[in-house]
Amino acid sequence: MSSKTLLPLMLILGICFADDVSNKLFPDDFMFGTATAAYQVEGAWNEDGKGENIWDNYTHAHPDLVADHTNGDVACDSYHKYKEDVALLKDLGVQHYRLSISWSRVAPTGQASLVNQPGLTYYRNLLQELRDNNIEPMVTLYHWDLPQALQDQGGWLNDSIVDRFGDYARLAFDIFGDNVQYWFTFNEPKQTCLLGYEYGAMAPGIKEPGISSYKCVHNVLRAHAKAWHIYDEEFRATQNGKLGIVIDSNWFEPGSDSEEDQTAAETKRQFVFGWFANAIFNGDYPEVMKTRIAERSAKEGFSASRLPEFTDEEIAYIKGTHDFLGVNFYTSSLVNATSEPAIDTPSWDKDGGVLEYVSPDWPSSASSWLKVTPWGIRKQLNWVSQTYGSPDIVITENGVSEDGSSLNDTIRVDYYRDYLSNLRDAIDDGVKVFGYTAWSLMDNFEWMQGYSEKFGLYSVDFTDPDRPRTPKASVEYFKKIISTRCLVDTCVES
Ligand code: NOJ
Repeated sequence: MSSKTLLPLMLILGICFADDVSNKLFPDDFMFGTATAAYQVEGAWNEDGKGENIWDNYTHAHPDLVADHTNGDVACDSYHKYKEDVALLKDLGVQHYRLSISWSRVAPTGQASLVNQPGLTYYRNLLQELRDNNIEPMVTLYHWDLPQALQDQGGWLNDSIVDRFGDYARLAFDIFGDNVQYWFTFNEPKQTCLLGYEYGAMAPGIKEPGISSYKCVHNVLRAHAKAWHIYDEEFRATQNGKLGIVIDSNWFEPGSDSEEDQTAAETKRQFVFGWFANAIFNGDYPEVMKTRIAERSAKEGFSASRLPEFTDEEIAYIKGTHDFLGVNFYTSSLVNATSEPAIDTPSWDKDGGVLEYVSPDWPSSASSWLKVTPWGIRKQLNWVSQTYGSPDIVITENGVSEDGSSLNDTIRVDYYRDYLSNLRDAIDDGVKVFGYTAWSLMDNFEWMQGYSEKFGLYSVDFTDPDRPRTPKASVEYFKKIISTRCLVDTCVES
């Protein structure tokens, strides 16, 4: 059969060319898993003594701001169905499951001295259920759901939150640490601070551009460091686990080969990833951030830089607070140099001072921000590895959304295959990436998009009080990847 007739036939049959998909086996100890987050799946928002958090508050006060006017009150009802969820994980054959603890479920007002026993019991049971099924938990302490009582005191803008977070972390290590080897302090703190305090686009909805997001990150980094030191000094010897942070970023590809665009792309990487990673690995904000924000602040008439400064003592305290690194990766952008933004109202975007855009040729998903760029994960992993001294990395999230119109989610099958292929190439490049976590185990509350964007391997019927889970086509493919450690029909040892 000629290729002229073969190609249309393959397209009709839905067979994809996979000739550039890696045929190398994943290492035996490579960990495959899936992820969820407390507010997005648990529901039971006010049951058994749980306190209100900023997402309960925000979605109840502003249902109009959520695409389908929904909230996480019931979500996937995982609070009641966690055993079923673990059974799904077991069936998938995953090595690990990444979940988050709802701070206000274990400490309703955010004060770790006032615990909620049923909340502690819930997570103890969930962790035990995972252990009983040989699934390694990876636990995030903060996936965006601050206790409302702490928000009422200023949230991440109030310096006292650093101690509150430290106390909460200590409580979690103390109560759950015997079952947890992989801890993350924060999930995507950039989103907490940019969407929450710069753009006002997510809870708590504060819009103070160019000022509050920097203050928020400053306290997040101090809180992260505090939790790492608490773990290091009080728990590591007996629990022997690892603690890191989850940083998200697009891959920022220069829009051209010009030196200006190369520099602009690197500036953007530093403003996004380096904002956190440079502090954690090297003790301070990236030089390009310090310089640009100080210069612009002076021109705007501020008496000091809008970027807060760490003291020498803080730099020493924050530097090196990582045992490994979580990277959330979904998509890429192009970056060009541009003329210096006007000096008027400050903002993080103007401080970065570059032009970010996407190629119209990149395939879309159901999320406006998510273009399918599998090659980006390899570049991102290499950049992170080279910039931060080759740390141990786990991809803590990667996935794609669709609209739920079909269980035959070929977009997700292709996405996982192609991103994992590039990740496999990154292993050959020398990147120490030891795990991959698919976002998400099941469809869930996708923040301001409500239930309209579906990221799950399993579909959830949110109109049914039982919230039944149904496998999509990607479940079979992901299972096969995990059981064969191979993305194609036959793999070679590497
Ligand atoms: C990253 C966030 O951590 C997660 O909560 C969210 O659902 C996914 N991205 C998809 O947008």
